[in-house]
Amino acid sequence: MATKEVVQRDSFTSKLGIIAAIAGSAVGLGNIWKFPYITGVYGGGAFVIVYLICIVLIGLPIVLSEFIIGRKAQRNAVGSFRFLAPRTYWYVPGLMGVTAAVMILAFYGVVAGWTLEYLLKAITNSFAGKNPADLEGIFGGFISQIARPIFWQIIFMSLTCWIVVAGIKGGIEKASKLLMPVLLVIIVILDTRAITLPGASEGLSFLFKPDFSKLTAEGILIALGHAFFSLSLGMGTLITYSSYMSKEENLATTAVQITIVDTGIALLAGIAIFPAVFAFGIEPGAGPGLVFITLPNVFQQMPGGYIFCILFFLLLAVAALTSSISILEVVVAYFVEELHLKRRTATIMSAVGITIIGFPCSLSMGVWSKVTFMDRTFFDWLDFIASNILLPLGGLLIVAFVGWILGREGAEQELTNDGELSAGYLPLFMFLAKFVAPLVIAVVFLHGLGLF
Ligand code: TRP
Repeated sequence: MATKEVVQRDSFTSKLGIIAAIAGSAVGLGNIWKFPYITGVYGGGAFVIVYLICIVLIGLPIVLSEFIIGRKAQRNAVGSFRFLAPRTYWYVPGLMGVTAAVMILAFYGVVAGWTLEYLLKAITNSFAGKNPADLEGIFGGFISQIARPIFWQIIFMSLTCWIVVAGIKGGIEKASKLLMPVLLVIIVILDTRAITLPGASEGLSFLFKPDFSKLTAEGILIALGHAFFSLSLGMGTLITYSSYMSKEENLATTAVQITIVDTGIALLAGIAIFPAVFAFGIEPGAGPGLVFITLPNVFQQMPGGYIFCILFFLLLAVAALTSSISILEVVVAYFVEELHLKRRTATIMSAVGITIIGFPCSLSMGVWSKVTFMDRTFFDWLDFIASNILLPLGGLLIVAFVGWILGREGAEQELTNDGELSAGYLPLFMFLAKFVAPLVIAVVFLHGLGLF
């Protein structure tokens, strides 16, 4: 009896660690910054419904597929495919993932840098007595500068680099286990304040009352791309993380838990933001500045707002950090394996390279905002190509690999832990993995690009 208890406690602890690490990767700027602003741009409720459908029908099967591949092969993204399908071209999705990681981290580091500036502004009480128009001005004025956003981007990327060099396990895993629940508490407090603002119901119906006439083909593509982005899918992050999972872990349960946490936090962020958007007369389609303009308004309207504002931007920065680490890790693991570089060298090299690619992203917000190609700035292009082309394509190949190459037997072995667990959902999963997910991704993808 006593031994049994010890064993159970042990496995529980490691399970929490895994969930914290994967949730740390999934929950980030995607949930709190990007989800509300694209929901605003693409029309509200109908977009949210399409997003939720993408999460359940496509996101969840791909989370599970990455888990199956990673834990089966016990290797990094490229190596896993090489191991499971030797002498084939199946390593190509791995390479696409590395490319996507470079592009995503380039602009991710820029926005994460903004959170540091806002943290400093919160500490120095710079939002006190400002009205919504002032706050819009503060945000626009800041991101359009040349040096200051780049300074913060460099600081943030150095932090990411430093943690990846120093190793993740002790520090960042512990930190995310502690800080993720705190983030949740703060968002819930913000939600409570936001929904009691005068005029809040207008914001809630914007978020939850679908108006399908506002939905566009591009909106559906963006919803799908964001499902990938938010769940950290399509570029091998979850393959890498799950390669460290013990063979006792129940993959399906873990996948469902991560998906619920990630989606829940995105929705809670939406609930914190849209009532305030309407209460303060901010344009819901305001774009990337939405969180930075709206929330300081809310903080001013609540007791203890000064402290909550500091906490919020601190935690947003931490959430971004636990995600950026998982993105850099994909690139580093590849360099270490393929070019046989030392981990330290590989990390510093890739962090410096990615930071430099981020400079034009930062400048797209100001001096280079008019430098566009087909109406998209450099920043928008990196985001679009990575989130809406490489991630869905990578996800398509990953899920098809499990559906068609590993097949039912290969999946069953991993999902049941070699027959230890029952997996009554297996036929459903195989159906989704073989047909539904690949087909839907292909159709949405071609349609969104205007090719179908
Ligand atoms: N999911 C993170 C967010 O929502 C970002 C992220 C981390 C990511 N790892 C990824 C996105 C891998 C795509 C692929 O902020």
